Amino acid sequence: MCGIVAACARREVSEILLEGLRRLEYRGYDSAGMALIDNEQRLQLHKHQGKVARLEDAQAMNPILGCVGVAHTRWATHGPPSAVNAHPHLSGQRIALVHNGIIENHAALREELKSEGFEFVSATDTEVVVHLMHRELQGGLSLIDALHAVIPRLTGAFALAAVDTAHPEQVVAARIGSPLVIGVGIGENFLASDTLALRQVTDRFIYLEEGDSVLLSAGQLQVWDAERVPVERPVKRISTGIEAAELGDYEHFMLKEIYEQPRALAATFTRDGAGELDESAFGAEAMEIFDRTRAVQIVACGTSYHAGMVARYWLEELAGIPCQVEVASEFRYRKRVQHPDTLLVTVSQSGETADTLAALRHAAPGEFIASLVIANVDNSSLVRESDLAFLTRAGPEIGVASTKAFTTQLVAFLMLTVVLGRRRGMTPEKQQDLLQQLHSLPDLVTATLALDSQIEKVAEAFIQKHHALFLGRGIEYPIAMEGALKLKEISYIHAEAYPAGELKHGPLALVDADMPVVAVAPTDELLDKLKSNLEEVRSRGGELYVFADRNAGFTDEPGVHVLSMPHAPEALNPIIYTVALQLLAYHVALQKGTDVDKPRNLAKSVTVE
Ligand code: G6P
Repeated sequence: MCGIVAACARREVSEILLEGLRRLEYRGYDSAGMALIDNEQRLQLHKHQGKVARLEDAQAMNPILGCVGVAHTRWATHGPPSAVNAHPHLSGQRIALVHNGIIENHAALREELKSEGFEFVSATDTEVVVHLMHRELQGGLSLIDALHAVIPRLTGAFALAAVDTAHPEQVVAARIGSPLVIGVGIGENFLASDTLALRQVTDRFIYLEEGDSVLLSAGQLQVWDAERVPVERPVKRISTGIEAAELGDYEHFMLKEIYEQPRALAATFTRDGAGELDESAFGAEAMEIFDRTRAVQIVACGTSYHAGMVARYWLEELAGIPCQVEVASEFRYRKRVQHPDTLLVTVSQSGETADTLAALRHAAPGEFIASLVIANVDNSSLVRESDLAFLTRAGPEIGVASTKAFTTQLVAFLMLTVVLGRRRGMTPEKQQDLLQQLHSLPDLVTATLALDSQIEKVAEAFIQKHHALFLGRGIEYPIAMEGALKLKEISYIHAEAYPAGELKHGPLALVDADMPVVAVAPTDELLDKLKSNLEEVRSRGGELYVFADRNAGFTDEPGVHVLSMPHAPEALNPIIYTVALQLLAYHVALQKGTDVDKPRNLAKSVTVE
């Protein structure tokens, strides 16, 4: 999704802005631009459709230089990807503005500004903001006062940053529902929508709070809260993560992140090396809140939603606690009847997903006893705004298709199952058993990764296909959903998941030799039922790709291709089968030649509704 980088320094900053944009590329975007105020106090601009590399080429051919500037990667919402719709947007050749998020009332504002003679060149919602700023500046306001005057006119969730040639040493910015951090340097200050963009210039960050605005110059920074009262926000030092975002020897971040799973999973359950399950990993007040919890409501989007779907099986079956799961974009707008004493659990790799955050923020007073987030990014909005937080230790995830974040979320949920289960009669032996199982997980994932070259071979069968079906039963149904999501995200093959028992109620009509059918088949109590469903596929000429426990009794035969998975304790199957399906999607995409890490139209962190 869109990314913002801005800089105020006493040195030339074009390369810092470009490097910041490169580091934001993983979020997904379709155009990029930057504007600098040069030493003659004129605005200089480059913007292009396509990759940041095009901006670099333009900069190499025709360098624009300055000590103050704003830069942006755009993920189109209003107006198609194009140079003219790319940010920064200008007004009167004096103001340049970049924007993340959506201005919902842009149409009315556009009419108002047009009637006053402002000319629009783009189809974006953003352009109204830069003209509104211009109008306030013409009225004699300072740059920050102009921003303060404009914000109340805007509805939506957004982050903004702007420069003005009449205030050539300043950058102003505001955070209204879309993340923004200040990077604090020595005699220079920076701004970005993600700390990753600035790790090359500083390790000290100020996380802006909701509604904050900021005035930056090289030597000064001033923050105002939503009421426009000047405030001090704490400076936090971040020491890790620069090297983790490097590709190393891997061809893609997705592959690197798939292979990082044994370490990421172990890091997530062995908190600080402790052998026992430490409940404080969920937050200081977790014990007291868990004592009162009688039901769980999980809310998330995308892959994180699938983690929640898996968790429902564990929480109800192993911990005996009622659990509901819903996608955040539906949950947030629905009138609900909540079980008393329900714990709201949000799940999010980024901690910034707009719908998930809105679900947390818009929960009715008293509707939940408390909120817990399972997130991968410390200091993210969901972490800061939830009562309890469990941080997965996946490390930075750059590939748009989520991999290690998902499996570490599952580990977090198994831990939650134990801590809630022990309050509802789960025996100490069962608790110990689950924790022991977790300790065997990294080795089982390593054994699954060893199937890589076999899965690569199987992937060849998919590259000419336009559709695929994924089947699972019970807890493997959400894993089939996650496998289908991975395949469609990065290979653009239309993939659907079904609980295998539903096959005969519709999707069976689609099955023929052109429809590969992937089955998730560990040994569990539903295995025989699944086998019958797969027979239904075979009888219609469907080609089966069965990821099966080596003891499940499947053998290769014409039309049936079996991938022999390691035998694992039942609770761990969702994790290891996911790893195999991640590899399948990766190899299909690789062989099709799609952009594995940055699939078209998608964004890593979806900060608009
Ligand atoms: C985007 C990403 C997905 C991710 C979803 C939820 O759609 O492309 O990979 O699962 O957002 O993101 P979150 O950060 O909340 O887990």
